[in-house]
Amino acid sequence: MQALTTIAALREAVQAAKRAKRRAAASDAYEPTVGFMPTLGYMHAGHVSLIERARQENDIVVVSIFVNPLQFGANEDFDKYPRDNERDTRLAKEAGADFVFIPSVDEMYPAPTKTIVSVQDITDVLCGASRPGHFDGVATVVAKLFNIVLPDKAYFGMKDAQQVAVIEQFTADLNLPVTIVPCPTFREPDGLAMSSRNVYLNADERRQATVLNEALRLAESLSADPEGITPGQLRERIMEHIQTAPLAVIDYVEIKAYPSMEEVSSLQDSGRILIALAVKFGKTRLIDNTLLHRG
Ligand code: PAJ
Repeated sequence: MQALTTIAALREAVQAAKRAKRRAAASDAYEPTVGFMPTLGYMHAGHVSLIERARQENDIVVVSIFVNPLQFGANEDFDKYPRDNERDTRLAKEAGADFVFIPSVDEMYPAPTKTIVSVQDITDVLCGASRPGHFDGVATVVAKLFNIVLPDKAYFGMKDAQQVAVIEQFTADLNLPVTIVPCPTFREPDGLAMSSRNVYLNADERRQATVLNEALRLAESLSADPEGITPGQLRERIMEHIQTAPLAVIDYVEIKAYPSMEEVSSLQDSGRILIALAVKFGKTRLIDNTLLHRG
């Protein structure tokens, strides 16, 4: 595995790897596939599961580690976001990556970008409403990374369901030749969704954070009741459960059609329904969600 820090070196390395695979196959017609898994780093088992999936499904696997300043708000944790490139490089290698791309901020943004990829409508709610500009930052850096890596498939976690919707939207709108592969959320044994930000939690916050997964499982069982609880009632029940944790401060609990993010009038509506939440424990904001599938 190779670690690369410049765009030119990464492009050259991926091209060389493709040439080598074609030569090994002794056929110019053979097109080796590139799987890509972008991260902010500080990897956990959730990240690793996506890299392993990319390894299974592609000839060449690229992982990026880049704490993207464009997607952090002025009062957010860009400066203190946890970083450990050495450990991440090792984990990426063990999970089967061929290349890790670790660019500097100057390499990605040599001058302030005047071009922003901005997805409309579906970014007006949930994390888009709580974190203005966040999804512009995500969409812009992911579009740049797609153009640098030129992947056939790119892997994203449903832990960030709205992010997946945003990436699928601009990829389709801009006709980018990449298939987006959504992957399931990895959880700790007690149900807390894995996140690089979990390291910020103190012992009490960490213990209480299990209410998020509990609230989502409760929501799943309540919404399965054919008697029919309304979305408004379900939202209340989820908030009540979260509030049993004294340290929990709710940012949002929302029930939306997925991926349109439109209002749902009934939990029996056909299609997919996203139940998403963002809750602060101390200074740490955690997100989690579940997706209901209706006939
Ligand atoms: P980051 O938070 O590092 O997450 C990288 C990828 O791992 C994302 O697709 C995310 O959804 C996925 N992931 C995170 N926690 C997960 C879990 N518990 N189970 C499964 N997958 C999980 O998301 C970002 O970085 C950035 O916004 C990025 C897409 C890299 C753009 O900067």
